[in-house]
Amino acid sequence: MDSIEIQGGRPLVGEIAVSGAKNAALPLMAACLLTDEALRLERVPRLADIATLSSLLKGLGVQIGEEAGEKGQRTLLLDAKEITSTQASYDLVRKMRASVLVLGPLLARCGHAEVSLPGGCAIGTRPVDLHLRGLEALGAEIELEEGYIKARAPKGLKGGEYVFPKVSVGATENILMAAALAEGTTRLVGAACEPEIVDLAHCLAAMGAKIEGIGHSELTITGVPRLTGATHRVVSDRIEAGTFLMAAGITGGDLTLCGAEPEHLSTVIELLRQAGMRIEETNAGLRARPANGRLHGADAMTEPFPGFPTDLQAQFMALMTTAEGASMITETIFENRFMHVPELMRMGAHITVHGGSALVRGQKTLKGAPVMATDLRASVSLVLAGLAAEGKTLVNRVYHLDRGYERVEEKLAACGASIRRVAGE
Ligand code: EPZ
Repeated sequence: MDSIEIQGGRPLVGEIAVSGAKNAALPLMAACLLTDEALRLERVPRLADIATLSSLLKGLGVQIGEEAGEKGQRTLLLDAKEITSTQASYDLVRKMRASVLVLGPLLARCGHAEVSLPGGCAIGTRPVDLHLRGLEALGAEIELEEGYIKARAPKGLKGGEYVFPKVSVGATENILMAAALAEGTTRLVGAACEPEIVDLAHCLAAMGAKIEGIGHSELTITGVPRLTGATHRVVSDRIEAGTFLMAAGITGGDLTLCGAEPEHLSTVIELLRQAGMRIEETNAGLRARPANGRLHGADAMTEPFPGFPTDLQAQFMALMTTAEGASMITETIFENRFMHVPELMRMGAHITVHGGSALVRGQKTLKGAPVMATDLRASVSLVLAGLAAEGKTLVNRVYHLDRGYERVEEKLAACGASIRRVAGE
């Protein structure tokens, strides 16, 4: 297995181009199943999770072509003219939970689908009950058999109302896609409003879907009998951008993130300013550096958008390990998302966890060490810590990073980081 070797202590200075968002690209790719015409997606990042979903879609009969886009970006052409299978197997779904996003589109287009239940996950139990209840509200008949979700809508889906008991990004996406082709009107109350959902809704609208309330927690979808192909550019990755904002902070550097969308990061920017960073909107995107020497502790609590994102919690914790004073970081979305804590402590961080909150007492310096993590964001938080630490850090299990950060070591090295990938056996 490959690892990443970092010699820490160098301020990062320069420009980084933000990639297309993984968590937007995945549902957008699933949306290709809703139409027999080609869907053209621009700025799709080259990531392991995208490759996994591509394999799954190919197994369902989708033809996928690739074109070079501008500035080295990639365009995918997804053509689901003929769907040859409606089954998503355990082998693929267990690799990546977002595979469950094919359920709504397959059911809406074909009237039946069998998708493996995803099973456990490193960051929490992550059930899919809300996806299923929402589809049932549209008339789906759902049974769980032999580890599979078996969904049927023999007479087609019908518009209905679903009130989410809890905000869920994936369930909102699945039900939104299904409702686009359901007969009649669907009302979704308490829907997630993340920029990735807005991006999906805009793409669906370009395909002919009728959606009101885009960007709000109440969505009204008037189903149409068929959707068409479209061209859509994937929104820029706010989590990647937020991660690099913190890289500028933890290394005492000065980074400009080209293509970052400030309005998708407003809570994050506010918190980083509170911690002593100077963040400015520029024509290119966002410029970030410490305002005045060492950062200081600030408290964060994860919440659905527009709150502070759980996908930046681990990175913010790394940042706070070297700030002056204490910081209380509370995770409210996933029950087991502190796996980076013991690894950061191996690098000299002082962190105490009480239930869903972590108290971080900032140190002047961290010390490099071999570390590893069990999920994507925890892994990148260790990269951030390594960039700031004295000496050498070896981040193992790099495949987690490859799931969600496009060319991460190349982007950081271009700004002065001493970072390289070491091939494993
Ligand atoms: C999406 O996951 C993201 N993944 C996650 O990104 C992100 O952490 C998460 O949203 C929260 O923002 C993709 O977009 C592919 P949820 P998702 O449904 O949709 C509970 C990353 O690092 N829940 O909003 O799976 C659930 O257990 C990742 O890129 C139910 O109880 O998240 C959690 O506590 C990891 N029942 C909460 O809701 C359900 O049916 C929010 O989960 C669904 C969810």
